[in-house]
Amino acid sequence: MTPTTRRKFLGLAAAVVVTGAGGCAIGGADNNSSESSSSKSAPPLDKSRTLVAYFSVPETDDPDDMTEDEANSTHVVDGEVIGNTQYVAQLIGQRTGAELFRIETARELPRDHGRLEEIALDLQDAGARPKLKALIPNLDDYDTVFIGYPIWWYDLPMPLYTFLEEHDFSGKNIILFSTHGGSRLSGTDDAIAEALPDATVMDNALSISRDDMDGAETEVRDWLAGLS
Ligand SMILES: Cc1cc2nc3c(=O)[nH]c(=O)nc-3n(C[C@H](O)[C@H](O)[C@H](O)COP(=O)(O)O)c2cc1C
Repeated sequence: MTPTTRRKFLGLAAAVVVTGAGGCAIGGADNNSSESSSSKSAPPLDKSRTLVAYFSVPETDDPDDMTEDEANSTHVVDGEVIGNTQYVAQLIGQRTGAELFRIETARELPRDHGRLEEIALDLQDAGARPKLKALIPNLDDYDTVFIGYPIWWYDLPMPLYTFLEEHDFSGKNIILFSTHGGSRLSGTDDAIAEALPDATVMDNALSISRDDMDGAETEVRDWLAGLS
């Protein structure tokens, strides 16, 4: 796909209907959005051995004066502006009691939507692995890691590839969640399973449209119920 065709996703996104995610058992017929066919069961979650790691780039912190692009990438909770994926991560943290770890690049990314899109595309075209601000310091303490990210240019944000490659997830259970503007998972669940051959990547990743953030609490609740 050329950069020119990839740039069109935002226009096309509005035409994509995203189905609501009802509660479902792993591997069940009502699978949220994963295209994987294999079925893997999640063990019961032990909150002290579970981490929620997420990447999210809210494009503003001003709740009162947002452009449409900024509103698309954010959710306001009690007057505080947070990213869509950050919001879903917080909901998972609240429901499971698990700790949160924010994945951040060493070099701060721009908040301006147009510049962020350009940089994201340049990183993708270069196959870059942007340096991260920090790695999970105590990964050994966790058996299960939720990994959350927005879809960027029909793929994982390149910092996610850095994150996957710079940690040893061997033997861990990995549970994926994502937010998007119409492209759903775009095969990112398969990309992560491929990048982590020695981990167990659950096959019912949660994928929520940025247009459905108001219903995210229910979606997360039902999805988590389907994991146990
Ligand atoms: C650089 C960039 C590229 C994006 N590419 C896509 C895309 O290919 N498909 C899609 O559905 N949404 C795309 N989006 C929209 C985001 O996935 C969506 O707004 C997401 O909820 C943002 O999450 P965040 O607020 O946690 O960063 C893109 C957004 C940005 C900033």
